[in-house]
Amino acid sequence: MSLPTILVVGSLNTDLVTNTSRVPDAGETIQANSFATFNGGKGANQAVACARLSRLKTPQGIITAPSAYVRMVGCVGNDDFGASLKSSLESDGIDVGGVQVLDNVATGVAVILVESSGENRILITAGANGLCKPSPSYFSPAPALLVLQLEVPLDTVLDLLKLASEASPPVPTLLNPAPAVELPDDAYKSISHLVVNETEAAILGGEPVRIGSDTQMVEDCQRASQKFVSNGVKSSIIITLGAKGAFWYDARSGENALVPSEKVKVVDTTAAGDTFIGAFAVKIVNGYDVAEAVAYAIRASAKTVTKQGAQSSIPWRDEFS
Ligand SMILES: Nc1ncnc2c1ncn2[C@@H]1O[C@H](COP(=O)(O)OP(=O)(O)OP(=O)(O)O)[C@@H](O)[C@H]1O
Ligand SMILES: *[C@@H]1O[C@H](CO)[C@@H](O)[C@H](O)[C@H]1NC(C)=O
Repeated sequence: MSLPTILVVGSLNTDLVTNTSRVPDAGETIQANSFATFNGGKGANQAVACARLSRLKTPQGIITAPSAYVRMVGCVGNDDFGASLKSSLESDGIDVGGVQVLDNVATGVAVILVESSGENRILITAGANGLCKPSPSYFSPAPALLVLQLEVPLDTVLDLLKLASEASPPVPTLLNPAPAVELPDDAYKSISHLVVNETEAAILGGEPVRIGSDTQMVEDCQRASQKFVSNGVKSSIIITLGAKGAFWYDARSGENALVPSEKVKVVDTTAAGDTFIGAFAVKIVNGYDVAEAVAYAIRASAKTVTKQGAQSSIPWRDEFS
């Protein structure tokens, strides 16, 4: 039996988080309260979501019954952070053969200062992520889906979209344009599935999606989706709306719906979007339609918001019903 492959090309970061009562002034040195490192990067987070949402983990810690093969392609530096990121992805069942270790550059990091008030200050250094290059070799063997975000150079993402859509047969693509920038018009025709939140929808499309009544949101989402379809998006547009749920639009039939989120006790919404994308991707490569894939993604991301943390809060397939 051969499993469908999801290829994620994107960022791998180490998050360095310091908790402090207040941030120091210029020239000042103060004692902070605690420090911890976490694995991150939208690329790596989405690869983890694809792997866990297509697998079970037994109480003995054995990973089994995969419904997708997940390959991660990206760049880390030749340092401890890079080695640790790779081995952590591997322990979730991800093929990291395509994660290059580059000399003379550091692994990407996010330095995060969290004040007791909850205020965050974040500095991201792209490091090796900034040197991630496209290659046609990523498509042999051909994946069932290529998943991309924008934490690697935009040119790399645009080149990969083009390579995927010009492959024969074409490789279906999913773009999560985060952090959002305007895309060149001709990029859209190489996108099969576009997954955005309301902020990204507005930056890309210039069509605001206002969080309000359901009727209001549906109208705004329909207008934004129609714009993306007229730009060339081929299969589906998904607009995630946080606690309001998610809107989907089938580019071929025009069918669309707003799916409410699950009512859960919210602990930390970090990685909700990445979980949603992984869950959606796993269903799409297994032949489910957009409505079914969104329904699964809604349930998976609801589970993520009930737990603290980023990668650590992404559930395995059997952790929710
Ligand atoms: N408070 C919540 N309760 C239940 N589900 C939620 C909640 N917040 C988010 N979700 C689920 O997660 C999905 C993605 O969340 P959201 O739209 O906030 O993505 P995002 O902005 O990309 O998130 P992030 O960048 O924080 O990961 C939503 O469509 C919803 O299904
Ligand atoms: C949407 O995602 C972006 C990351 O691209 C994030 O900065 C922004 O806060 C998100 N918007 C909402 C409303 O969650």
